[in-house]
Amino acid sequence: MDVAIQSLPLLFKGLELTLIITLGSVGIGCIIGMIAALSRLSGKRLLRLLATAYVDFFRGTPLLVQILLVYYGIPVILQDGQAFLMNTFGMPQLIHNYAMPRLIAAIIACSINSGAYIAEIFRAGVQSIEKGQMEAARSLGMTHGQAMRYIILPQAIKRVIPPLGNEFIAMLKDTSLLSVIGIIELTKSGMLVVARTYEAFAIYITVAIFYLVITFTLSRYIDYLERRLKTGD
Ligand code: ARG
Repeated sequence: MDVAIQSLPLLFKGLELTLIITLGSVGIGCIIGMIAALSRLSGKRLLRLLATAYVDFFRGTPLLVQILLVYYGIPVILQDGQAFLMNTFGMPQLIHNYAMPRLIAAIIACSINSGAYIAEIFRAGVQSIEKGQMEAARSLGMTHGQAMRYIILPQAIKRVIPPLGNEFIAMLKDTSLLSVIGIIELTKSGMLVVARTYEAFAIYITVAIFYLVITFTLSRYIDYLERRLKTGD
């Protein structure tokens, strides 16, 4: 048990990184998601097509593959020319002269992935607003954009808060996939402590409780927000 206690500082460091990546990714994901959602709802066919392709691709492929693609794949296309180095067997070996910073790769992969889910959340939110709202705004002389900005979006935001909370919880747990590119987030920090101490049960239960405390607090907070926003209607 004292191993678990001794390893707490390391686990807290991991938790900190998990939270930073989750907050950053869902934050950037909201911006990407808003753009994608509005594109999917726009009258321009090309915009709709691009946004749909984006959502389909990033929702339809595993986040794990996307992380590997960003971290290992992007450096391959970014490198200028090819460089060879003799390896220990005297054989020429291709080296990449461009390396992706881990944390940047992590946030890019998670933001783009989250953006695809958030795009659908926003689209559903906008479409849930009664058609009469848009018609009324337009009949008052507002342009489509103005009606969206001042009438539809403020109402839609309220409705998307609960599903956005769910997305945050999902992303928080899915950041554990980043351990494959050596990001020492909460799960990976647990794995490192176990590798040193062999106290698998104590450590992994502690890691699980860390996730639970965050997700539980957040879902209670979302419940509270939902109730508060309802009374505003
Ligand atoms: N587990 C799914 C995957 O591997 C979803 C990952 C991301 N989840 C999310 N809500 N952004 O693709």
